[in-house]
Amino acid sequence: MAPDPIHLSAGGVSLVLDRSGPGLPVVVYWGAALPEIGDLGTAVAPQPIGFSVDGPVGVSLVPEQSSGWLGYPGIAGHREGRDWATAFACSEVRHGAAGVRISAVDPVAKLELTITLELLPAGILRGRAALTNNGPGTYWLEHLALLLPVPERTAELLDFTGHHLRERQPQRTAFTHGMRVRENRTGRTGYDSAFLLCAGTAGFGNRHGEVWALHTAFSGGARSIAERTYHGHSAIGGGELLLPGEVGLAQGQTYQTPLLYAGYSATGLDGLSARFHTMLRARPHHPSSPRPVVVNTWEAVYFDQSLERLTALAGAAATVGAERFVLDDGWFGSRRDDTSGLGDWTVSPDVWPDGLTPLIAVVRGLGMEFGLWVEPEMINPDSELARAHPDWIMATGARQPRTARSQQVLDLANPAAFDHILKRLDALLTDHDIAYLKWDHNRDLVEAGHPASGRAGVHDQTLAVYRLLDELRARHPRVEIESCSSGGGRVDLEILERTDRIWASDCIDAHERVPIQRWTSLLVPLELIGSHIGAPASHTTHRTLPLSMRAGTAILGHLGIEWDLTAPDADLTELAAWVALYKELRPLLHTGTLVHADVADPAFAVTGVVAQDRSEALYALISTGTSASYPPGTVTLPGLDPDRVYHVRPQPPGDVPDGNAAAWGAALPWCTPRGVHLHGVTLGNAGLRLPVLYPDRVLLVRVSALPTGDAPAVPADPAGPGFSGSDIGRVTR
Ligand code: DGJ
Repeated sequence: MAPDPIHLSAGGVSLVLDRSGPGLPVVVYWGAALPEIGDLGTAVAPQPIGFSVDGPVGVSLVPEQSSGWLGYPGIAGHREGRDWATAFACSEVRHGAAGVRISAVDPVAKLELTITLELLPAGILRGRAALTNNGPGTYWLEHLALLLPVPERTAELLDFTGHHLRERQPQRTAFTHGMRVRENRTGRTGYDSAFLLCAGTAGFGNRHGEVWALHTAFSGGARSIAERTYHGHSAIGGGELLLPGEVGLAQGQTYQTPLLYAGYSATGLDGLSARFHTMLRARPHHPSSPRPVVVNTWEAVYFDQSLERLTALAGAAATVGAERFVLDDGWFGSRRDDTSGLGDWTVSPDVWPDGLTPLIAVVRGLGMEFGLWVEPEMINPDSELARAHPDWIMATGARQPRTARSQQVLDLANPAAFDHILKRLDALLTDHDIAYLKWDHNRDLVEAGHPASGRAGVHDQTLAVYRLLDELRARHPRVEIESCSSGGGRVDLEILERTDRIWASDCIDAHERVPIQRWTSLLVPLELIGSHIGAPASHTTHRTLPLSMRAGTAILGHLGIEWDLTAPDADLTELAAWVALYKELRPLLHTGTLVHADVADPAFAVTGVVAQDRSEALYALISTGTSASYPPGTVTLPGLDPDRVYHVRPQPPGDVPDGNAAAWGAALPWCTPRGVHLHGVTLGNAGLRLPVLYPDRVLLVRVSALPTGDAPAVPADPAGPGFSGSDIGRVTR
């Protein structure tokens, strides 16, 4: 008798695996939870048409040619040209309600495959495969990936692209017949990684449509696949992108894929984010302390470091309420600019004649934590380390790769290099009162081989970096680490297992940051996304924006400031008010549900965070362009309890709509200190009228549930000192 299908169910999601065939189990269903599966396997079994093979062809988790699958292979490799096609048969399947472990062997190819899948309480599927060579000689693995079928009603794909200063930009394509393969060959996660590959029903949006999505959690080469065949199969999948000869398995050796995370949502992209955020927040090591306000020195002073200058900056930082002061690049070795010194992780006696301790004492004395920038995987050819150990630089042999940002990559898979860097970082953290490391990584990996053998080394390097981080964290468990890679070049769920924050982008122009943060937060909750208030004129775009826009968007993350606060353009009083608001709101922002309205007008975005008990929320009504309508239309405030009555009013200091209504019209009726009272169902369907806003402005809206039983009457005017929402009523024409 054929074994029963396996039904995993958790968090409102079901996955059904059919194991009646001779090969690997086939996913017959992945989507909304099913109470019972009945005859599902029979109902959806494909009709055998006998093209690739006689008999039904399904998409197994690791699809193989032998099963009749001629789409993207789940496995590719060979043993000196043989054993390139596999036919795995299950040897053992163990499962519970929320997880399955499948062991399979191919006695001819002498390979063993293990697939583990867990359906986490948040409804996210997490899985990986492992391959062991049981035969003599080397099995050269080229590719091992997991694929998951998606239904044919997925008409559109969404994935991401980008570059330095413009990370994680969305791109939509029709999900047509054929393959869409996104390869990242940069040797780091990459600005343009597929990030979250989504397949959804036609027109799926923030709050509507069904979406199936997949994230390949790896910080080296990666490949994401979406394929629709003319035999009625559609699938999404992912795995590591291996370079030629990178994984050669000797007898008894095992290769393990990165973890794959897959989510399903019946309520658009917000439903997906809610699952991913819930999953991440449930981790025991998820940061739970209030996310401290950071002041980072990079755009404030760049390489111009001195005790005097940084003492003044630290003083201003403390004045506005900062809680963590991070000394960026330039404090070590010969690092007076970006051409020299990487690898020499000792404090520069030229810049810091008495070491870092005097600055740390100032910072700690002001009640702030001290953080330090490092870039441990890199080396400048102009450094003591490179002169002492030229053989530690990654290369394919005799030829050195071309430099990028004047730097090369240290071969951390070399135990001597690894130990040296570990020792230096350990000493820094042991000898100084350091609470935080900003861990940077500023170049792509080009010709990144192990210099002694010349063999490709991105795979080993990525795992070595994980080991380095793991070891440091074990030795210094209280030190938090930020993942930075020339801005947001290393944002993935595996680096986030070892870090507490990601730096989303080197672009801190609020206009550019709106999409970068929106799309980064599709996967990553706000408390893990570093977002800084920059100078009035952005250093990377030269766009000048008011503090209300810079701060009103930066508070939607882990807030920081990256601005010379000793400069005359620094309005410390207003900045302090924003910092105070962030501190007041962070319990909500960092635990609540992130929501986005589907806004028809491309000039506007509505981002909100709703408390888990839906008792309160904050919404940001953001304009990034000129509206097609004048005055603009209405937007909904999604995510609230439909049955409760809420007090809705503008939130100071982001309460001044700052548009030309003051010049051309009268006040927007609801946008007064007094606000309005509305049911959640009304806010979710009718919503609020948008104010007239200049491009690149934000209006914050605070929403609080009234105690049950209160009548939805307009409250008394709560205006207090500092409230300026009524300013928009001033007619200056
Ligand atoms: C790139 C980072 O993204 C910046 O924030 C800064 O730390 C520089 N590196 C320093 O070199």
